[in-house]
Formats: sequence, structure tokens, C-alpha cells
Amino acid sequence: MEAFPGFLNAVRLKRDLVPDFRRYPFSIPSVNQLDRLELNPKITFLIGENGSGKSTLLEAIAVKWGFNAEGGTKNFNFATRESHSELHEFLVSERSLYRAHGGFFLRAESFYNVATQIDDLGVVTSYGGESLHRVSHGEAFLALMSNRFQGDSFFVLDEPEAALSPHRQMSALVLMHRLILDNCQFVIATHSPILMSYPDAWIYECDETGIRRVAYEETPHFRVTRDFLNRHRTMLHHLLKDEPDQKDLDLGSA
Ligand SMILES: Nc1ncnc2c1ncn2[C@@H]1O[C@H](COP(=O)(O)OP(=O)(O)O)[C@@H](O)[C@H]1O
Ligand SMILES: [Mg+2]
Repeated sequence: MEAFPGFLNAVRLKRDLVPDFRRYPFSIPSVNQLDRLELNPKITFLIGENGSGKSTLLEAIAVKWGFNAEGGTKNFNFATRESHSELHEFLVSERSLYRAHGGFFLRAESFYNVATQIDDLGVVTSYGGESLHRVSHGEAFLALMSNRFQGDSFFVLDEPEAALSPHRQMSALVLMHRLILDNCQFVIATHSPILMSYPDAWIYECDETGIRRVAYEETPHFRVTRDFLNRHRTMLHHLLKDEPDQKDLDLGSA
């Protein structure tokens, strides 16, 4: 059997049509230097510091794909605000011949709106039978993933780990793996070293120099978390040694 080629193979920025690279969203480094961003047929991660442009790029990919900028499936069309950038108008999609049957765009900040929409549509049963407002954010996201995310779908998720314990992040990883085996493709912005460990994933790091692919073990998330957990007392000692209240902290010996 031939390997699933994904739905969206790449996005390209029509650089010649960009009116002004000094202006948002074109001014942010991840867009400023962008030419063509190739996507993994299974899963692509965008990582980088807060403000590095992950959400801007992710949202443009989602809107270009046809999702509502506020998040949800393609059937959701509510707008509580017009905050998304015009970046999607300057992207070209390179799609495969495969057609997706479904999908979901999870915006980091607007899960509440999506939960409301699901309640309003009266489709609560397909999300696990419980209003997503009445369960915790983390439970709601896992319910969404296990009940609503189906095969042959394209998913764009912005920091899906936000409310998940480390253990639940591993559960999310298992659910994602099942979906990938069922011909799904993911593009995910994340800070989670657990999620981004998915085998063969492509990881793009956004920073002030632009956007480039990095290996999992090279990501600051992997290194910093590993170093911190391996030597947390020493790290805390260095981090806090110049703080005025340091004498009140019992850091023990490393
Ligand atoms: N509507 C906007 N107008 C101007 N600047 C914006 C707007 N939205 C975001 N920015 C800026 O663009 C940069 C990238 O933001 P964002 O894509 O949200 O980053 P990330 O998701 O990586 O934290 C930030 O410096 C942010 O302040
Ligand atoms: Mg963001």
C-alpha cells in the first residue's frame, strides 16, 4: 500500500505581492523570511518563543484551508471578532490529490467559543454527551479528540497541550497516532516536549532569524526540560541566587 501523502504538502508566500514587509503580519521574522514551508504528510510542529509568530502562521494556514478563523470545523461560521491577519490572502496552497473528509482548527484562545457553538448546534452527543462547558478544558479537548476527530481529516491545532497534564498529553499523543494511521494530517503549534516527540515529525522553529527545521533533540524544549529535570536543584540555585528572597528558599543540595 502506498504511503498516505497528506492533504496539504506545502504553503508558499507570494512574496512579490506583499505590500510592505515592515508591517504586521509580514514584519514578523517567521513570515518575513518565509518562502515555501513544506509540511510533513503526517505531522508538522511549529515551535518558538511567545510572540515568534506561530499563531499568525498557523491561523493563516487554517484560514487558507477553509477553516473559520475563530476555530472549529469547516461548518462553524461564527465570528466574535475579526482579529485574524490578512496573511492567508498571500499564501498559495500546494495540495495533494487526496480530499479530506473533515478536520478541526483549534485556536489557543477561543476554545470557549467553539464549546458554545457545539452546544448551540445541539451536537453535544457527538462530542461525548457532555457539554464541553461543564467539563474541564483538558477533558474537553480529549473528548473532542476522541469523539469528534475522525479519519481522513486535516487538523490545525494551536497549543493543544494548554490544559493537559503530562499524562494526558501522552494520551493525546496516542489519539493523534491512531488518527495519523487513519490518514489524518496535523499542523500543530506547541511548547510541549511530549507532543513534539512524535516519531518522524517535522519541527520548525520560529525565531528572530526566521523559520527552520530542527531535530527533536536540538529543540530548546527538549534540552531545557531534560536539563532542568536532571539537575533541578542546581538549576534553581542558579536561577534564584540573585533574588532577594533566596535565603528563604530551601533548595537542598543538588
Ligand atoms: N493584530 C496584530 N497586529 C499587530 N501585531 C500583532 C497582531 N497580532 C499579533 N501581533 C504580533 O505578532 C507577533 C507574533 O504573534 P503570534 O503569532 O501570536 O506569536 P506566537 O503564537 O508565536 O506567540 C507578536 O509580536 C505579536 O505581538
Ligand atoms: Mg500563539
